Amino acid sequence: MKDQEKLLEKAFLALTHAYAPYSGFQVGACIKTRDGNYILGANIENAAYGSTNCAERSAVFAAYSQGYRKEDIEGLAIVTRAQQLTPPCGACRQVLSELLGQETPILLSNGKETVETNIAKLLPDSFGAKDLDK
Ligand code: THU
Repeated sequence: MKDQEKLLEKAFLALTHAYAPYSGFQVGACIKTRDGNYILGANIENAAYGSTNCAERSAVFAAYSQGYRKEDIEGLAIVTRAQQLTPPCGACRQVLSELLGQETPILLSNGKETVETNIAKLLPDSFGAKDLDK
C-alpha cells in the first residue's frame, strides 16, 4: 500500500486521542480512503466497561458515517505502544469482516514492529450476511 508511513503516523496521532481512564491502554486506528482521506479512531472507554468502543471500530464507524463503504477503503492501521503487537479483539474482527474488503491491508504496529494482515486471515470462515439467507 502507498503512504503506509503516513497511515501509521495518523494512527499514532489517533492514539493520543484515546479516552482510556479505566484500562490505561491507549489504542489508535486510522483508515485511508481511496480518495486520499485519513479517518481517525481511538478507543473510547466507559464506566460501564462493556460500552467501550475499540479504536478500529471507532475508525470504521466514522468512515461509514461519512458515507464511505468498504470498496472506498484502501487500508486500516491499528497501533499501540505495547511491547508486543496488539491483535484486534473478536468483536472488532466480526465488525471488520463485514465493513472491510476481505483482502484490504490491515497494519498492526507498536512503533517498533509492523505487520500487514487482512481480515480474511484474522477471521476465516466468518459469519456474515450470506448466512442469513433463508
Ligand atoms: N482495544 C482496542 O481499542 N482495540 C483492540 O484491538 C484491543 C483492545 C481497547 C479496548 C479497551 O479500551 C482497551 O483496549 C483495553 O482492552
